[in-house]
Amino acid sequence: MVSRVIPVEAFDLVIFGATGDLAQRKILPGLFRRFVAGQMPDDARIIGSARTRMEAGEFRDQVRAAIAAHDGPRIDHPQLDAFLQLLDYVPLDAGAPDGWADLRGRLRPDVVRAVYFSVAPSLFATLVQGMSEQGLADADTRIVVEKPFGHDLASARALNEMLSQHFSEAQIYRIDHYLGKETVQNLMAVRFANILLEPLWNAHYVDHVQITVAETVGVAGRGGYYDDAGAMRDMVQNHLMQLLCLIAMEPPVRFDPDAVRDEKLKVLRALAPVAPDDIVRGQYRGAGAIAGYAEDVDNPDSRTESFVALKVRLVNWRWQGTPFYLRTGKRLRARASEIAIVFRMPPHSIFDTPELPRANELVIRLQPDEGMDLKMMIKEPGPGGMRLVPVALDMSFAEALGEDGVDLPDAYERLIMDVIRGNQTLFMRGDEVEAAWAWTDPVVDAWAAGTARPEPYDPGSAGPDAATQLMQRDGRRWRDMRN
Ligand code: BG6
Repeated sequence: MVSRVIPVEAFDLVIFGATGDLAQRKILPGLFRRFVAGQMPDDARIIGSARTRMEAGEFRDQVRAAIAAHDGPRIDHPQLDAFLQLLDYVPLDAGAPDGWADLRGRLRPDVVRAVYFSVAPSLFATLVQGMSEQGLADADTRIVVEKPFGHDLASARALNEMLSQHFSEAQIYRIDHYLGKETVQNLMAVRFANILLEPLWNAHYVDHVQITVAETVGVAGRGGYYDDAGAMRDMVQNHLMQLLCLIAMEPPVRFDPDAVRDEKLKVLRALAPVAPDDIVRGQYRGAGAIAGYAEDVDNPDSRTESFVALKVRLVNWRWQGTPFYLRTGKRLRARASEIAIVFRMPPHSIFDTPELPRANELVIRLQPDEGMDLKMMIKEPGPGGMRLVPVALDMSFAEALGEDGVDLPDAYERLIMDVIRGNQTLFMRGDEVEAAWAWTDPVVDAWAAGTARPEPYDPGSAGPDAATQLMQRDGRRWRDMRN
C-alpha cells in the first residue's frame, strides 16, 4: 500500500532554539524527512533562530551534520542540498532588541506563519513579548509550545494567561509528542471506526487497563531538569494521561479538534484523587559500570522518582469499578510502551480441561514495532481431545500495510505538518493541561511535604517490588516487560 502524502501549503516556520537538542535531533531531521516524502512545497522556508551568532551557511552545515547524526544514511540523499536551501538563520537574543527587525524582514506575508518555541520555558514570556512588540504576534501566527507546560497548576495557568494575552486558543499548539505517534491515533481509529469493540469497552467487560511506558535509558545529560520534575511530572501528567484519555473517552461527535478535546477533558475531570496506597515511587540504583540515579543527577540526597506506578480510578458511568494501572520509568528492562485492555473472564467455563480459559487481552503496542495483539483462547490444534491454548492474533501495522511496510512518520514530523495545516486535534488545549495538573499536584505536593524516599530498584529490572505488589494485592499482575 502506498501511503498518501498530502502536500501542505507554503509556510514560514521560525524555530526559536534552533541550535538546541530537540531542534537538531527531532525537528530539523523530521522536516527533512517530510521534504523527501514530498509533503513540503519548494517555497517553504525554515528560519532557525538562537543566540549564537552565525551565518545561514554555518547553520546549514550544522543541520547537515545533525541529519547525518540522527537520520543515518539519508545524509547522501540527493534532496539534502535542496532541503538545506530552504533554511535561513537569524541570531536573536530573546531579551535584547537586536535581531527582531531582521527576523521580521525575512517573513513573507500571505503564507502560513508558525513559530516554534523549542526553548527553555523560562524564555517563553520574553520571546512572546518580543514578538508582540515587533508586530509578529498577529492573528495569523501559530505558535508551537513544547513541554514542560508549567511545573504545576499555578504555573501552567500563568503560562496560559500570558499566552492568551497575545494569541487566541486557536493559534496555540501545545505539543505532547505522544499524540503524534502512529498507534496513538490508531487507537481512535480502532475504537471509533469499528463496531466490534465498543459494546465491550466498559466496566462490564473490561477488568482493568494497564499502561506501561518503559525506557532503558537513564537521565544522565538532563539531570538538572529531570531532578526537578521526576517521572510524575515528566511522563504521567502529560503522556500517560493523554493515553488514558484516548482509551477512556466517550466517542466524540466528530473527529475535530474541539470535539475530541472536549471528551478528553471530561476524562481528566473524572479522575479520582490517587490514594497514597495506590502509588509507588522508585529510583534506580547503580550496578557495576551503570551509575545510579543520584549520581546521574549529581544530587546524593535526591528524593525524585525515576519510576512511578499507580492505580487510577475514573468516577464516571462507563468505568466505575475498572482500575487503570499506569507505570513508567527509566533504566528498566526494556524500551516498551503499550496499553493492555484486559477483559473479564468468561462467566462460566464449559470445558473440562486442565487449561482454564484466560482473560482476553487487547494489547496496543506504541513502541517498538507498533501494532496490536488480540489474545484469545483457541483449541490446541491436532489430536488429543479438547485442550485450550491462548494465542495472539498479531497485527504489526508496518507489515499489515504493505509488502515492505510503510515508513511511519515520527511523531514530530506529523505534528509539525498538522501545525502548518492548522489542525489542532493532536494538540493539548489549555484547559486539558490545567485539568491534568490539578490531578497531579496533590500527589507531588504530598511527596514534597513528607520525608519518605522512593524505593530503590535495580537497573534492568521491571521497577521496585512494591510495583508488583500494587497489582498482586488486587489479584492481578503486570504484563511482562519486554521488547
Ligand atoms: C519526553 C520525556 O517527553 O519523552 C523524556 O521528557 C522521555 O524523559 C521521552 O524519555 C520519551 O519519549 P519516546 O517517544 O522516546 O517514548
